[in-house]
This record gives sequence, structure tokens and C-alpha cells, in this order.
Amino acid sequence: MTELLLRAPNARVFERGSALYLLDARGAVRRLDGDSAALARAVLTILEQARTRSALFEALAELVGGPVEPASVVDELLSLLKASGAIVSPRRDARVASAPSPSSSSGLRVALCVTGAVQSVHTPWLVSLLLAEGHDVRVVMTRDAQRFCRREGLEALTHNPVCVSLWDARPYGVAPHIRLAEWAELVLVAPASATTIARIAAGSCEEPVSAVCIATRAPVVIAPSMNVAMADAPAVRRNLERLSEDGFIVVHPTSGHEVALAPAERAAMRGTMPSPTDFVAIVRAIVATAPSRREPAAPGAAEGWEARYAHGADERPWETDELDEGAEGTLERAISREHTNSSPLVARAPLASSFRALDLGCGTGTVARFLAARGCAVTALDIAESAIALARGRAEGDRVRWLVADARVATLNGRFDLVHDRALLHVLAPAEQRAYARRVTQWLADGGSLVLTAHDEDAPAELGTTRFQPRAVLDLFGDALSLESIERTAMRGPSGRAVSARRYVLRKLRG
Ligand SMILES: Cc1cc2nc3c(=O)[nH]c(=O)nc-3n(C[C@H](O)[C@H](O)[C@H](O)COP(=O)(O)O)c2cc1C
Repeated sequence: MTELLLRAPNARVFERGSALYLLDARGAVRRLDGDSAALARAVLTILEQARTRSALFEALAELVGGPVEPASVVDELLSLLKASGAIVSPRRDARVASAPSPSSSSGLRVALCVTGAVQSVHTPWLVSLLLAEGHDVRVVMTRDAQRFCRREGLEALTHNPVCVSLWDARPYGVAPHIRLAEWAELVLVAPASATTIARIAAGSCEEPVSAVCIATRAPVVIAPSMNVAMADAPAVRRNLERLSEDGFIVVHPTSGHEVALAPAERAAMRGTMPSPTDFVAIVRAIVATAPSRREPAAPGAAEGWEARYAHGADERPWETDELDEGAEGTLERAISREHTNSSPLVARAPLASSFRALDLGCGTGTVARFLAARGCAVTALDIAESAIALARGRAEGDRVRWLVADARVATLNGRFDLVHDRALLHVLAPAEQRAYARRVTQWLADGGSLVLTAHDEDAPAELGTTRFQPRAVLDLFGDALSLESIERTAMRGPSGRAVSARRYVLRKLRG
């Protein structure tokens, strides 16, 4: 097949007087003068469109009004231009345009978070590269980031407002950081300062960058960038380890220049984030290996769950028609214990319907049906209408009040002797978990039990759930609930895959 020739999109060429200079990839300079320079100019202009060698010769002949002779002169020049990287040979099936269009199917909705590390002076370059990759980019900046790079320039580049505050100009809609956190399919913190790393590790949402990172369910890539002494400080290392444990993706720093030193004294020093070009290559690799690129693994909105019900049981990895291992005993104990407390004489007898149980995120209703069969008056709610429809269909007249409702905002009357949660807390965004704990505590009657099953630290990160350690669960509920028991279990889904989890029983103290 005849080879195509094209002027390289990144050809490094400059002119001085009548001479034309070519820079190769290693920075070596090649100078062309007189006729050679004129011929090189003509060839480079003609090859702005990909052509075969013979088409190039035809175009040259047209330009000079006759065949260019000897042809070997042109061939030698072509070899030189190729060797310097000014001319490349695109594949016939490759697109000639250098940048994919923003509508390219590989494009993601990317929230780029910029902090007050000096590498943020490169942000416009990084934004341009991300746009060229086909991503839809929105920028979030800390106050100190704006000292290094102006928001107006980034707004002009992205054609979108830059988020610099938790407060919208008109604060009666969804807060900007929450909107962005939900919108993003990928969050990049680049560069990530030591201060912002500390905020995210501590769960502080005091400014928009850390708030977006904490509230989002999308994968978050952190590119630390700082002076080597800061990078090696135990506090910074501890925070980065914490972020890795929490499921953040942490990029290794490379060598860069320490601007705290005078320009003449600067030497390459470890600690700086990779250059925008290298960082974009890393992001490309992360996206290529991410388990779920388009949809966060654990959707928070009703539409996300509806989509999972529409796609079949395999999309709901922890749905099952059977109780988890050990759950029957735990639930029986919670019911009989409660019953014993309220009326010791009838312990273990079928419960009176006055025993109220609430099943949060009930899915297709396995636990709600079990509790109803034990005589509890059950309220079961799920955010997905399809889940409740399936649950109703399987209940066959069991006494369950089925509700399509979002547990994060639902209004429920009265108090419950038992609140059950299997797989709700761990799909909530970290920023929502404290509010959840407050609501559950309010729903519990004095002496009532919470039976909670959540993924633990051995669950695969790609599920996108929070992988709870016991300390984190106990922290959420503080003094309001006391711990009765913790046991290891596994959540099985339709494929039989078992995901590592813990089941907690917590009790509300009598007031
Ligand atoms: C000139 C200059 C350069 C700085 N470069 C860095 C840096 O590369 N990395 C870093 O972590 N902090 C750096 N800092 C310090 C941060 O700007 C400072 O810690 C700030 O509080 C970061 O806040 P932010 O994370 O909210 O943006 C630099 C400060 C100055 C004045």
C-alpha cells in the first residue's frame, strides 16, 4: 500500500531570515538555507493534508510550473523532515485531525479540582489536553489556587463557570459542589496541595474542592504536588495512605522545580505532580481500567437504581431472595429481645402487630417478608419503584406497608422497635452518612435495635460502596446508640458472588 505523508501536528519549525530551522525530538537543530529552505516550506505547506509521494510531486509541479528535478532532492528532503519528526506517516484508517472531537465516545464528564500548589500555573494547559481527549471539563478551585491561575481564563477555555465557592450567586438551588459531585463521572485533583489532601482525608467540606471529592461517587484521582520535605512529612504520608484506604486513586509525584528557591538555585526535586501530558496519559490508563466509566458503581438517585432494575438482577450485585448467613438468628434475637423487654411473659410467642419494624432500602423485600412472617408490622421502603413492584408481587398478602421513598428525605410517622438496613448506608455518599445516622436514631423507639449490614474493608473497591471499618460505623452513631454485636458475614448476589461485609446490632438507649 502507498505510504501517506503528513505534516506532524506538533512539527517544531521556525524561520530566521531566509533560513528554516527544524528541531527534532531530542532538541537537535537542523538548518536549511536558500532553495532547500524554499522547497521545505512548500513541502510542509502541501503536506498539511495527507498525501502520497506521487500526489506531493504533482502538487509541487503545479506550484513551480513543471516537474521538480532531480526527484532525489525531494526524497532527501523528505527523509530529513521525517527524521526530525516534522513529517509523519499516518495510517490510512487513522483520522487526520490531531484532536478527537469533544463528542468523542471516550469523553467523560470530568471535574478538575485545582488547589494552591504551584503546578496549578499549568492548569490551562491541562484543561486544553483534557478537552482534546474529548472530555467535558468543569473546573473547581480553592481560594489559593486562584492566586496561581485566573478563573476567567479557565471559563473561557471550558465555556463553563468555574466553581470557587460552596455558595451559589443565587443560593436557592442545589449547592454547586453537590451539583458537580453528582454530575462528574471522574474527579481529578491536580495539583493536590498538602492542605487539600489533609482536608479530604479528614472529611472536611469547608471549601468546594474537598466538598466535591468527599460528596462524589465518581472515581477521584489525586495528584499530590509539593516540596519534597512536605511530601516526605509523616502527616502528609499518613493522609495519603488514608486516602488510598478510602478508595481514592493516588498518583505518584515526579521531579520538578522548587519555586521556593531563587530561580538560579533551583534543581530538580521529587514531589511535583507529573507534567500535564504525562498526567493525561495516566488518566487515560485509569479510565481504561476503571470498572464503571459511565455510571458510578453505586447510584444515589432513583434513576440510577431504576436503570439497574431495568438491566436485570446482575446489575444489583447484592440482591438475593435468601437471608445472609447468620441474619435469621440476629433478626430473631432482635425481635424476641425487644419482645421480652416489653412483655416478658410472652417471649418467643408470635409477636403482636404492635412490634414495628422498618426496612430501609428493602430492594425486592426479602427481609421485610421475613419480619412480616414473624408477626411484625413492617414498613419497607426503597427508592426504586421497580424494586417495590417486585417486592409487592412476591409478598402474597404479607402485612407490609411498601413505600417508594428515598430514606435520605422520607418523612415517617412514629417510632420503630427495629430498623433494618442491608446495603443502604454503604451506597450513600460519605457526606450523607451523618444525616442518615441522625435520621435512623430518630426513627428508633427507646430500647429499639438497628440491624445494619454494610460492606467491610475486604469488599472490592470497584463496587463503589463505602467499605466500613467498625470504628467508622460507631463514630457515625456516637453516643446515641450502643453496640450490641458485630459479626462478619457475606452479602450474596444473584450470581452467587459473595461480598465481604459486617452485620452490626446497635441499640438505642432508653431515654
Ligand atoms: C509560591 C507558593 C507556592 C506553593 N506551592 C505549593 C505546592 O506546590 N504544594 C503545596 O502543597 N503547597 C504549596 N504552597 C502552599 C499552599 O498554597 C498553602 O498550603 C495553601 O494553604 C493551600 O491551600 P488550598 O489547598 O486550599 O489551595 C505554596 C505557597 C506559595 C506561596
